[in-house]
Amino acid sequence: MNLKNHLIFTLYTIYGILLKVMASKGKVRGISGQYPLVQNVTVTEGGTANLTCRVEYNDNTSLQWSNPAQQTLFFGDKKALRDNRIELVRASWSELTISISDVSLSDEGMYTCSLFTMPVRTAKAYLTVLGVPEKPEIDGLTKPALEGDQITLTCITQGSKPAADLRWFRNEKEVKGAKEVNASGKTFTVRSSLNLRVDRNDDGVAYTCRVDHVALTQTTQQATEVLEVHYPPRVEIIHSLAIPQEGQYLKLECVSKGNPSPDPVMWTKDGGELPDLDRMIVEGRELTFTSLNKTDNGTYRCEATNHLGTSQAEYVLYVYDPNALGQHGTDHALIGGVVAVVVFVTLCLIIVLGRYLARHKGTYLTNEAKGADDAPDADTAIINAEGNHAHAEEKKEYFI
Ligand SMILES: *[C@@H]1O[C@H](CO)[C@@H](O)[C@H](O)[C@H]1NC(C)=O
Ligand SMILES: *[C@@H]1O[C@H](CO)[C@@H](O)[C@H](O)[C@H]1NC(C)=O
Ligand SMILES: *[C@@H]1O[C@H](CO)[C@@H](O)[C@H](O)[C@H]1NC(C)=O
Ligand SMILES: *[C@@H]1O[C@H](CO)[C@@H](O)[C@H](O)[C@H]1NC(C)=O
Ligand SMILES: *[C@@H]1O[C@H](CO)[C@@H](O)[C@H](O)[C@H]1NC(C)=O
Ligand SMILES: *[C@@H]1O[C@H](CO)[C@@H](O)[C@H](O)[C@H]1NC(C)=O
Repeated sequence: MNLKNHLIFTLYTIYGILLKVMASKGKVRGISGQYPLVQNVTVTEGGTANLTCRVEYNDNTSLQWSNPAQQTLFFGDKKALRDNRIELVRASWSELTISISDVSLSDEGMYTCSLFTMPVRTAKAYLTVLGVPEKPEIDGLTKPALEGDQITLTCITQGSKPAADLRWFRNEKEVKGAKEVNASGKTFTVRSSLNLRVDRNDDGVAYTCRVDHVALTQTTQQATEVLEVHYPPRVEIIHSLAIPQEGQYLKLECVSKGNPSPDPVMWTKDGGELPDLDRMIVEGRELTFTSLNKTDNGTYRCEATNHLGTSQAEYVLYVYDPNALGQHGTDHALIGGVVAVVVFVTLCLIIVLGRYLARHKGTYLTNEAKGADDAPDADTAIINAEGNHAHAEEKKEYFI
């Protein structure tokens, strides 16, 4: 009994050691480690997908790839399905790689690699096919649009998988649209709308709709439309002199903005035609006086018209007498100067006193007297505007 048990135990031990030795030499891997390995594959529509199946330890057992419809594609290096797009890349005992070119959305699905051991071992690889979005199209543009119109720009792209994203840009700056996604078969139709109330600032502005999609890494798909907005004119008169004086040259320019461009503009004086004078020249949008005369006084009006409306601007010309003006002008300048200096000195005093009061609460009376000495009367202040300034700065430093 004992001996028999002992013998059986010994046999089992030897068998165990044998198994281990064989396993280490890779002879029995079929039982424990012989299995196919695959990876999921993602490919863009029209591209080529490689399906690779690997077996690390193989005892010359055949490998096979089959498609989602369970049809065998390749059995070892033997092609089983007639499809020109499917080719053998590599076949060995440890690997079976095939390629599918010009992949279409219908190729998507679960592919199976089988290793014909007993029992058969399989591995499944999912082939994902990305649908490339078509070039987007922008709809809903009225050309030209009228100022104040409410328009809705719609951008549509079809054929994306997964659904693409659409982004709007107004002259490069992103603006928010309203997106809508519909499935059509395996792909998606994506639409994004943009509501606009157009005004004259939209004239010539480019609206771009760009497609964002995982299959568009190298290229950009986008569409651009440039708005054309028609609007009534708006005119303005720009004059070359602030104080027109007799004998001077004066140019009045009628700046008109409108679309279509209001051309030509019309000049009138005091509601009537311009006097026919050699000194007065109308050239395009400009009215030029080569030498002003008192008799030129009056209200000058320029008017611009396009099919959407009319706009006018006025300029009241008052020709000053150079002699009278000389007197006047200097008076104004003098008063202006006096006011400026007085304000400046006052401000300096406030700042200086403020600082001083904050630091030397006890002694401000004496220094106030000093401050009063510094600003004697307005006339001196005007004459010594520069000097006063320098003095004030000095004082500030002194108090700090
Ligand atoms: C497929 O495999 C072949 C051979 O190894 C290689 O040249 C090709 O680039 C691979 N294609 C893809 C899409 O990985
Ligand atoms: C595997 O096949 C090769 C020839 O392709 C042969 O030499 C080898 O003996 C085979 N091995 C096994 C374990 O069948
Ligand atoms: C492969 O794809 C399938 C189906 O999409 C998924 O269930 C599985 O987890 C994926 N496997 C790997 C390794 O990503
Ligand atoms: C999505 O479907 C709805 C309802 O069928 C339809 O009204 C809409 O126009 C569709 N949108 C797109 C972007 O195709
Ligand atoms: C202004 O016009 C009047 C009459 O046309 C002329 O007598 C006078 O000399 C002119 N004055 C100047 C400064 O040109
Ligand atoms: C024109 O302006 C002068 C001042 O330069 C004024 O004396 C004169 O009355 C004005 N004439 C008219 C017609 O308005």
